[in-house]
This record gives sequence, structure tokens and C-alpha cells, in this order.
Amino acid sequence: MPLLLAIESSCDETAVAIVRGQTGQATEVLASEISSQIELHRVYGGVVPELASRNHSLRLQPLVEQALAHAGVTMADIDAFAATSGPGLASSLLIGNTAAKGMACVCNKPFLGINHLEGHLLSPFIDRTQVPPHLALIVSGGHTLLIEVEGPGSYTKLGGTRDDAAGEAFDKVGKMLELPYPGGPEIEKAARSGNPQAFDFPRSMLQDPHLDFSFSGLKTAVLYTLQREQGKVSIPDLAASFQQTVIDILVGKTLRAAEESGQRLIALSGGVSMNRALREAFNHACSKAGLELVVSPPDFCTDNAAMIAFAALLRHLNGESSPLNEDIHPNLPLV
Ligand code: KG4
Ligand code: ZN
Repeated sequence: MPLLLAIESSCDETAVAIVRGQTGQATEVLASEISSQIELHRVYGGVVPELASRNHSLRLQPLVEQALAHAGVTMADIDAFAATSGPGLASSLLIGNTAAKGMACVCNKPFLGINHLEGHLLSPFIDRTQVPPHLALIVSGGHTLLIEVEGPGSYTKLGGTRDDAAGEAFDKVGKMLELPYPGGPEIEKAARSGNPQAFDFPRSMLQDPHLDFSFSGLKTAVLYTLQREQGKVSIPDLAASFQQTVIDILVGKTLRAAEESGQRLIALSGGVSMNRALREAFNHACSKAGLELVVSPPDFCTDNAAMIAFAALLRHLNGESSPLNEDIHPNLPLV
């Protein structure tokens, strides 16, 4: 059974994973190591690209050794090496990409450059080595995408954000509320004791006939509320109302996309899909509409290398590889 090693270094997580799989059989994640830089960037309130790339280069080699040790394999056992080739920060992508190409070169094995978004997109199916036709919602810090998936590599974009991504909106609102970076998990925590109906924020574009999203108006509405209330506002109520608005928009548009496309299976992925209230809202809406829901396992929602290894495994099993002189693409689109 093919054994793949993949590196993810598109932003502020250095990650290495080793997976083994065969068509029709469950994929085994033998190792999924992550060295998070969140603490490092928190002081600056966001990701500092130079700090990120320096730390990728410092942490990558020990992380590869750790992954091999956890998987109980050696470099010579690996059948193909993969790395995220975009989208992401150029200086960060280069570190993981160059390392994976180097290992492929030394071991005389194929290299695969993987789209980070394809990693997220396929992550709900990581234990199957098989991807059925479905409707995918990717909600991360950089992207909000509705994709109709026929199978691996066959994607049609149905909608995307016209301004901020859902995770970006969580992070920016978190900053306004003076919560630590990244705002997403902090808003979720604060929202637990808040009233989601306390503030009636606009559900931008929810009723529009297209399947695009917009979150910048919501962000501004939160800012105006903060200014109007001049420090007297309940942070839990504001967090809960903001979170509920994002959830209503995501659930509403996704269910409409399912109805229009005729897809009966919905797959949720990306960092924001960690949000428990969002998962519950999707669970509820999908069971009411008679749709099947698959959500990325919690370990594979935020950035990780197992999802990159899985996407690479499917391509490898399909006989694909990338040339060693293939460049990184910081703005690489999925479709
Ligand atoms: O997928 P990801 O790790 O990185 C990108 O590819 O962007 O997603 C990170 C995003 C951040 O914006 C973060 O705030 C958000 O996912 N996030 C959450 C939660 N956990 C992470 N947003 C809402 N609720 C959460 N529990
Ligand atoms: Zn990501």
C-alpha cells in the first residue's frame, strides 16, 4: 500500500503527516505532527510572514523525524512526497515545498504539489480513500467557498465570498472585542454565555439569488454597535449575535446550493468548521432537509498536513505527479 509523506507550511502552522492507503480501503493516518506558531504571532495580533517562514525552516526537520518515528517507518519506505504549493504566504510555501522536493529528489520518488484548498475540501473523507459526489463548503481564515464536487479533481465553484472570508470576519471581530488572536475560537468561547438574539445584525446577501457571501457589512455593523454602546456592551451577547449571523448566512446559502444543485450530501471543512454551534446548526438543518452531512474530523479542520497527504494520496493512486521545477503559487485558485 502506498505510503505518502506531506508537508503543510502555507501559513503559521508547520505540519508533517504520513498516510497509507489504497482505493476502496480506509486511509491510515500514521502520523500527523503540527508545530503551531500561534503563540509567536499572537503578540502581533496576526501572522508576520517573515517570522512564519523562519520558524518553518527551524521546525521542519525535527518534525519530519518525529513523523517518521511516530509512523514507525524510514524515509526509504516513503513512496511519494507532497507539499502545499498554494495558496498561502510565498516565503512560507517555499520552505515546505523545497524540503519535500529535496526529499523526493534524494529518495528518487515522485513529488506532488497540492492545493491547500483541495486539502481542506477532501478532509471530511480522509478515512475513506474515496470521495463521492457532494456539495462542499470550505470555511477557513482565507476562504469561504461553495463547491460542487463530482469526484477528486473535478470541481465547480458555485459561490465564494465577495470580501472577507468567514474566518477572517471572526478574527477581525475578535480584534475589535480585544480578544486574543485568532478570534474564531475566542468568539466561540465568549458566545457560549451570550444571547444570540441580543443584536439583530444584517444577513448580507442571504436573500439574493446568487450563492456568493459577504461578511464585511456584518463586521462594520459590529463596529458601529461597539461605538454606539461606548463600552457598555455585553461581549458574550455581541459575540453570540455575530456568530449566529455568520451561521445563518452559511447554513442558508449552503442549503440553497444543495437544493439548486440536487446534491444530497454536504461536506464541511476548514478552520471555522471547528465551531460547535456551526456544526450543530448544520446538523439540525441537514436532518430537517433530509440531507447527509459529513464534517471534517476536529484534528483535520484547521491547517494540518494529513489533509495534504490525503489529497496527494488520491492523486498518486491516480498516477499523477508534479514536476520538480513546478513553482509555488501564492494565489493558486481551486477552480
Ligand atoms: O483552515 P485554517 O486553519 O486556516 C486557513 O486556511 O485559513 O482556518 C483558520 C481560521 C481562523 O480564521 C480561525 O479564527 C478560524 O479558522 N477558527 C474558528 C474556530 N477555530 C478556528 N472560527 C470559529 N470558531 C472556531 N471554533
Ligand atoms: Zn487552511
